[in-house]
Amino acid sequence: MKPLDNLFEKNRNWAESVKSSDPRFFEKLAAQQSPEYLWIGCSDSRVPANQIVGLMPGEIFVHRNVANMVVHTDFNCLTVLQYAIDVLKVKHVMVVGHYGCGGIDAAYENADNGLIDNWLRNIKDVQHRYRERLEAIEDREARLNLLCELNVMTQVSNVCHTTIVQNAWQRGQKLAIHGWVYSLEDGLLKDLDCTVDRAEQMADAYRIIS
Ligand code: CO
Repeated sequence: MKPLDNLFEKNRNWAESVKSSDPRFFEKLAAQQSPEYLWIGCSDSRVPANQIVGLMPGEIFVHRNVANMVVHTDFNCLTVLQYAIDVLKVKHVMVVGHYGCGGIDAAYENADNGLIDNWLRNIKDVQHRYRERLEAIEDREARLNLLCELNVMTQVSNVCHTTIVQNAWQRGQKLAIHGWVYSLEDGLLKDLDCTVDRAEQMADAYRIIS
């Protein structure tokens, strides 16, 4: 028995169970995908996109990295965003953070964690920008929860500022960007009500105006 045989066995069982409820499921899915959503979430193993929103394969396009970041020069994330918007024509992009995020925690502290700190610098920038609001909160957990929410809202803005989203809106494509936070404690999502669905909601500095 090979070390990962258990995973292949689980895989066969899963494929069987999907086929038993819809015999043509994989056949249809192999022909095309047309997801309406792009999920940009944290890599944390406790925050699996499909399960949380109860969607099947084919229904949600996913990009995950440490602390659900959208960095302007990250071609991995930008490539996913461009393909999702320009080719798949998703209608919604959700940036999904989660309370208790190790990335947020590590960014908040001043320890030396090596290379990852450079990635987390983007959260440090958020922490610094909102330091007065954050420092007004006594409780450490509540403070980190707020930082988690502020990070999501910042990443929503970053999505909106990309040329990909700006161009989509300019050509009249219907597209909304949302910010959500997931709670590990009860499995529920919270909408941060920071949805942006048109260029006019952004500062002029980021808009393509022609
Ligand atoms: Co996380």
